[in-house]
Amino acid sequence: MLGSVVHVVGARPNFVKAAPVVAALRAAGQPQSVVHTGQHYDERMSHVFFRELGLPEPDVDLGVGSGSHARQTAALLTALEDELSARAPALVTVYGDVNSTLAAALVAAKLGLPVAHVEAGLRSFDMTMPEEVNRRLTDQLSDLLFATSPEAVGHLADEGVDTARVHFVGNPMIDTLLAHLPRFDPEAARTAHGLPGRYGVVTLHRPANVDDPAAAAAAVAALREAARHLELAVPLHPRGRAALEAAGLGDAPGIRILEPLGYLEFMGLLRGAAAVVTDSGGVQEETTVLGVPCLTLRPNTERPVTVTHGTNRLVTPDGLAPALRKALDGDAPACEGPPLWDGRSGPRIARVITEWLDHHV
Ligand code: UD1
Ligand code: UDP
Repeated sequence: MLGSVVHVVGARPNFVKAAPVVAALRAAGQPQSVVHTGQHYDERMSHVFFRELGLPEPDVDLGVGSGSHARQTAALLTALEDELSARAPALVTVYGDVNSTLAAALVAAKLGLPVAHVEAGLRSFDMTMPEEVNRRLTDQLSDLLFATSPEAVGHLADEGVDTARVHFVGNPMIDTLLAHLPRFDPEAARTAHGLPGRYGVVTLHRPANVDDPAAAAAAVAALREAARHLELAVPLHPRGRAALEAAGLGDAPGIRILEPLGYLEFMGLLRGAAAVVTDSGGVQEETTVLGVPCLTLRPNTERPVTVTHGTNRLVTPDGLAPALRKALDGDAPACEGPPLWDGRSGPRIARVITEWLDHHV
C-alpha cells in the first residue's frame, strides 16, 4: 500500500462523518493526514468534536474562517492549493456538502489529485440551497463516490456518473452515533439544562430559515406555538442567533436557548427528546436511528430515506404545532432503519480506499 490520504474537513458535520473513516484507515495502517480548513473555528463548533470523537488533532489548520460564499471559497481555494500541492497525496477525501468540501474537490481536481467524496449523491433538487450546489459539483469532480442510501446511488447514475466509481457503504455519521451511544446520557443532559422530563430539541441554521428576517419571524412564531405543547431546548448555531433572537426567540415562554453543544451532550439531549424540530441534515439521520420523532422545517430533504425508513416528517411553519401534537400523541413510529446504517461504514470505505490505492498508486 503506497501513497497517503489527506482528509479535508472544515465544518461541524464533517468531523462527525470523518471520524470513523480516519479510524478505519488508521486500523488498516494507511498513511494519512487531516487538514482542517478552519471554516468552523469556535471551541464549540470545532475543537470539542476532535476531543470527543477521538479524531487526531489536525495536521494543519488553515484558519480560513467566515465570509460571504465567494470570499470564503476564494480563501479556501488559495489555502488548499498550497497545502495540497505541498502534501501531494495519492487521494484527497472530502465529506458532505459544505464550502470546504467543494473547494477541496476543486483544488484537487485542478492539481490532478484523485478525490473521494463521502456522502455522495444526496439531492434536494433545490439549487437555492448552497449545499446542493456543493454536492452536485463535488460529485462531478470525484473519482470515488461513497453513497449512504440506494437513492443516492440512483441520482449519481441518472447524472451519468460512472457506476464503477460509486460504492454504497451506508452512513459513517451513524458509525459515530453507534460507537458512542453508551455515552449519550439523556438524564445528565436534561438536568444540566434544567429541562423537565418531557422536552423537545430544536436546531435551526439553514439560510432559508434564519437569514431572512421574515423567515426567521415565521420560524419563531411556529416555535412559540409548538412550545405551548412541549418545552423546547434550542442549542443555537451561531449563524441564526441574531436573527432568531431579534424575532423574539429569547423571550418566548417554554423555549430555552443554549449555546452550541458538544457532540456527546447534544446526542444525550437528542436521545431523551420527545420530539425534535430541525433543519439540519445530520439531525434528520440521527433521530431516525434513535427512533425520536423528527419534524424537519423545510420544503424538501436530500435525505428522503429518513422519511421512508425513519422518523422524519417535513413540515411548514404553520404545520409545525399540529405535527408536533400528532407526534406526541402517537406511538413511537415503527422504524426499520435505512439499509447499511449499521456502524460498519467506516471499515467499508477504508477497504474500498485501500484497494483503490493498491491499483492506482
Ligand atoms: C455551514 C455549511 C452548512 C452546514 C453547517 C453546519 C456551507 C455553505 N454551509 O453553514 O451546509 O449545514 O455549516 O453547521 O458550507 N460562525 C461562528 N463560529 C464558527 C463558525 C461560524 O460564529 O466557528 C458564524 C459566523 O458568523 C459565520 C456564520 O456562522 O459567518 C456562518 O458560518 P459558515 O461556515 O459560513 O456557514 P454555516 O452557516 O456554519
Ligand atoms: N451537533 C452537535 N451539537 C449541536 C448541534 C449539532 O454536536 O449543538 C452535531 C450533530 O451530530 C449534528 C452535527 O453536529 O448531526 C452536524 O450539525 P449541523 O446541523 O450543524 O450540520 P448539517 O448536518 O445540517 O450540515
